Amino acid sequence: MNTYYRNTMCGELTANDVGQVVELAGWADNRRNLGGVLFIDLRDRSGKIQLVVNEERPEAFEIAEKVRNEYVLSVKGKVVLRSPENVNKNIPTGEIEVEIIELKILDSSETPPIYIEDNDQTNEAVRLKYRYLDLRKPKYQKILRTRHQTAAIARNFLNEKGFLEVETPMLAKPTPEGARDFLVPSRVQKGKFFGLPQSPQLYKQILMISGVDRYYQIAKCFRDEDLRQDRQPEFTQIDMEMSFIDKDDIITINEDMIAKIMKEVKGVEVQTPMMRMTYQEAMDQYGSDKPDTRFGLRLIDLSEIVENSEFKVFSGAVKKGGSVRAINAKGAQDKLSKKGIKGLENFAKIYKAKGLAWIDVSEDEMKSPILKFISEEEKAAIFEKTDAQPGDLIFIIADTNEIVCNALGQLRLELARKLEYDLKDQYNFLWVTDFPLLEYDAEAGRYTAKHHPFTMPLEEDLQYLETDLLKVRADAYDMVVNGVELGGGSIRIHNQNIQEKVFKALGFTQESAWEQFGFLLEALKYGTPPHGGLAFGLDRLVMLLTDNDNIRDVIAFPKTQNHGCLMMDAPASASLDQLIDLGISVDEL
Ligand code: AMO
Ligand code: AMP
Repeated sequence: MNTYYRNTMCGELTANDVGQVVELAGWADNRRNLGGVLFIDLRDRSGKIQLVVNEERPEAFEIAEKVRNEYVLSVKGKVVLRSPENVNKNIPTGEIEVEIIELKILDSSETPPIYIEDNDQTNEAVRLKYRYLDLRKPKYQKILRTRHQTAAIARNFLNEKGFLEVETPMLAKPTPEGARDFLVPSRVQKGKFFGLPQSPQLYKQILMISGVDRYYQIAKCFRDEDLRQDRQPEFTQIDMEMSFIDKDDIITINEDMIAKIMKEVKGVEVQTPMMRMTYQEAMDQYGSDKPDTRFGLRLIDLSEIVENSEFKVFSGAVKKGGSVRAINAKGAQDKLSKKGIKGLENFAKIYKAKGLAWIDVSEDEMKSPILKFISEEEKAAIFEKTDAQPGDLIFIIADTNEIVCNALGQLRLELARKLEYDLKDQYNFLWVTDFPLLEYDAEAGRYTAKHHPFTMPLEEDLQYLETDLLKVRADAYDMVVNGVELGGGSIRIHNQNIQEKVFKALGFTQESAWEQFGFLLEALKYGTPPHGGLAFGLDRLVMLLTDNDNIRDVIAFPKTQNHGCLMMDAPASASLDQLIDLGISVDEL
């Protein structure tokens, strides 16, 4: 046998190779003994090919009889056409097979605890413990390739546009950027800690001050936050920053990059320029700052119509500064039972709605728990404003603006699921702009930055920085697709004075601002170009490209809900020696 293992890949063989003698290596996917003839499917990264081992080659046959699933093989054989009745149309190499001349077992395998096939139903905890076996499945091999291809296209695209890829440190200063930091104790400076970066935000801004002009990085980010379907404590961004630009420059470059990725990876044409919508419009119409615009079910404001209504639930909400808004689910009457509507009310209550009023619009007899409370004029005005037609179901919520928008925003997504809208293969990209600069965190009793504290206020709103903080809008933009925030960024503050004002608004004293961010405030003194940038979540982008709604599926070695790696069993205890070295003592919990 030759010393090298292969001269071609399993999945690349075609009928054009018939007659060739090839060398292959990979894993035994399946072995069938038909008495005198053995069939083995050999799998490598590229796909599978059927091997045939005949008794006429007794040496190879004897070895092949020992082969079990997941044994690692090196083989030499001749590519032949399968007889017509044995052609397998389901696999790309199904027309051919390889008649084995020589075969060698490179390694054996115990019976694997999961099936190495895409429709394996083993529970995720077992699959994550044996992640290396899970990753052998064609599905994950494809995802890893797509992820690689996506990053490669982004790199090439940004390289061509004159961006420099610069690595920034993982051992950085802990900074309050929204989420909690992961801390790394310093051995050399006992009692002090590094923070793993939540993003390269401050480094990339400082690179602009350094004259790098156009920066990018496929950057690891760390955020110690509770996980959701599309969040991981450790994730990757396609991160970029540019100098001497305005919002439109950044938006254009980034939408072109995403359009290119969508085209090359998924074959989907994305229309550019993408639609833009202000935060206010998004909240008013969709009840969300990341609206799914693949379907209507828009929010309709009924506040003016019902502000003096006898129905105190409605008029009371408006009088208290809140609102009454509706969604018209067109033609939904046939599709939602009474029980279904009750289910929707319970769903709305998860989002703090106190109730969900509904009107079943019919030619003759209206059904609704609230018709007895509202006047004929109000009813007529509601029908006109919601464009009510027989067959429609109108849902109404009265409460504070925040609760109404959020609950109806979620309800419209739930309605789209319940009404089984066909949303497949639609990709509605848009930019949401002009976010509020700050939010008020009632629990903490202070303002927090909606994006981060380095975001530039819109010029016309600078005047409110000292008078009416919630009125200040930011020069910030998010790219949203199908209800998911794919990326976000902003124009940054490049003026020390404004930066200090924003820190003040966020509740920092001048002293604490300097203590935390003195390096930035100092750097801003020495000639800062106007700059801005953006970061995409690479994991979320790959989820979109591979039609996946589980972020763990698109990461080679993901973390579980409780931040664990089941394969390595991390996090783990540290040895006493390590702790002593670090000057750390751990309380027994
Ligand atoms: P932001 O915090 O909005 O902005 O993050 C940018 C994008 O990163 C992705 N993302 C995540 N993906 C997976 N798991 C997470 N826990 C997670 N958190 C965020 C999202 C999000 O849109 N430095 C700024 C960007 C800038 O202003 O240039 C930043 O990090 O897709
Ligand atoms: P009640 O008088 O509380 O029984 O409410 C009558 C109807 O109004 C029920 O269908 C409730 O679900 C609905 N309702 C109650 N509170 C609200 C609210 N804040 N917004 C919308 N509908 C409500």
